[in-house]
Amino acid sequence: MIIAIDGTLASGKGTIARRLSAWYGLAHMDTGRLYRATGVAALNKNVDFDDPDALADVARTLDLNDYSEEELRTAEAGQAASKVAAVPDVRAALLELQRAFANQAGGAVLDGRDIGTVVCPEADVKLWVDASVEVRATRRWKELTEKGETLSLQEMIAQLKERDDRDKNRADAPMIAAADSVLIDTTHLTIDAAVDKARAAVDTVIAQTSERSEP
Ligand code: C5P
Repeated sequence: MIIAIDGTLASGKGTIARRLSAWYGLAHMDTGRLYRATGVAALNKNVDFDDPDALADVARTLDLNDYSEEELRTAEAGQAASKVAAVPDVRAALLELQRAFANQAGGAVLDGRDIGTVVCPEADVKLWVDASVEVRATRRWKELTEKGETLSLQEMIAQLKERDDRDKNRADAPMIAAADSVLIDTTHLTIDAAVDKARAAVDTVIAQTSERSEP
């Protein structure tokens, strides 16, 4: 079984993905890490962000082991990620890796922006996770300030809107809900309630599949 989870920044999609992966015993890939690592690598190598060929080279030679979780979770890494993610050759370089992961024996959960639309359009379950801008910005701001980053909530809201706009409006694999996805709006939901909704969506598909395969 392949579960594709897409959605906006700080919507809760990562938490839902990790919890579904543990519950159903499926491998999990946070595909944002690939773009974050490409962005951080490009920053570290002083690559020109206006040079698509150089950015694609960085993606092709990426070694995820070179980056700590801490390094990848900064606001700067997130901004860099959304810039490199707009480059078609960067996306192409990271696509096969994601597809191979998705198609492993036993199935997988992948979360990102284009899993249900581009990476795994044939996924068994597609979820689209979203929440209001204010709620998402507050969540991410708390997370970053607890780690010692100094930015105001207003700056966080501005950064989040900028990233949403870039992700939604890029020509290649824009962030958009797949037509056959189930919406989970986490604005007023606890994590447990959001995970319950996600599990209900997966269980519905599992029940339909077993009905179809009964003699
Ligand atoms: O989810 P996360 O905040 O880690 O993603 C960082 C950035 O990577 C996103 O803003 C988006 O530009 C890009 N991304 C993408 N496609 C994915 C996952 C992430 O374009 N499947």
